[in-house]
Amino acid sequence: MMRTPLMAANWKMFKTPAETKTFFENFLPLVKDAKGCEIAVCAPFVDLPAAIEAAAGSNVTIGGQNLYWAKEGAFTGEISGPMLKALGCTCVIVGHSERRQYFGETDETVLKRTKAAIEAGLKVIVCVGEMLNEREAGETEAVLKKQFEGGIAGLTPEEFAQIVIAYEPVWAIGTGKTATPEMAADAHRVIRTLAAAQFGGVEVRILYGGSVKPDNVSALMAQDEIDGALVGGASLDPASFAKIVNF
Ligand code: PGA
Repeated sequence: MMRTPLMAANWKMFKTPAETKTFFENFLPLVKDAKGCEIAVCAPFVDLPAAIEAAAGSNVTIGGQNLYWAKEGAFTGEISGPMLKALGCTCVIVGHSERRQYFGETDETVLKRTKAAIEAGLKVIVCVGEMLNEREAGETEAVLKKQFEGGIAGLTPEEFAQIVIAYEPVWAIGTGKTATPEMAADAHRVIRTLAAAQFGGVEVRILYGGSVKPDNVSALMAQDEIDGALVGGASLDPASFAKIVNF
C-alpha cells in the first residue's frame, strides 16, 4: 500500500498573525489542486487562530510545534493537547532538535508529550536525528535507536498508528546542507526496521527534514523510503512551500 506523502511546514518562531493571514491568502490558491498529498502548517501558538481561520475548508491542516503533557494546571507558559485540539489543530510536532538542544527535551519527555497529544486526538510528528559529531563518529544508527527506544517504543501499537516520524539530521537543519537522498533513505530504513521490530505490521510515515528546498525535494521524494518532508526555512515563503508541496 502506498503511503500518502505529508508535506509539513515548521514555521519555528516566525510570523505574526497578520503575516500568517497574508501567507495563507497567497499559499492556498497555489496548492488547491495538490492531490494525493497531505499538507500541514505548524505555526507559533499565537498564530494558530489566524491560521485555522484562513485554512478552514481548504486542504491544509494546522498544528502546533510543542505541547505540555498535563491537560491543565499550574504550568505557567505552557499549552496542552486539549487546548490545541479545541482550537482546531489536527497535529503537533514533538521532540524537534531545537527543543532538545535549547529547552531540555529528552526522549522521556518526548514520549510523555506524544502520549498526551494522541490522547487529545492530535496526530504527532515525532522528530529524531543525529548531531554532526555523532554522524562523524559513525553513531547515527545508535542515536536513532536510542531516540526510538526512549521516545517512541513506549507507545502502544494503537498510539503508534497516530504518529509520523520525522528524521532530521541536526547538521542539516537551517544550514543549507541536505543529507543526500541516499543518506536520508538509509536512516529511514534504520527507523523503519526498529518500528517493524517493535510494532510489527503497523505502517508509519517517515518524513525527511533538514534544508528541504524546491530544488532538492524531487530527488528526496524519489526515494521510496521518504514519505514527505518537514520544512523549516523554505516553508515561510508561500511560493517556495507551494513548490515543495507540488513537487
Ligand atoms: P530547515 O528546518 O528546513 O530550515 O532546515 C527544518 C526543521 O527544523 O524542521
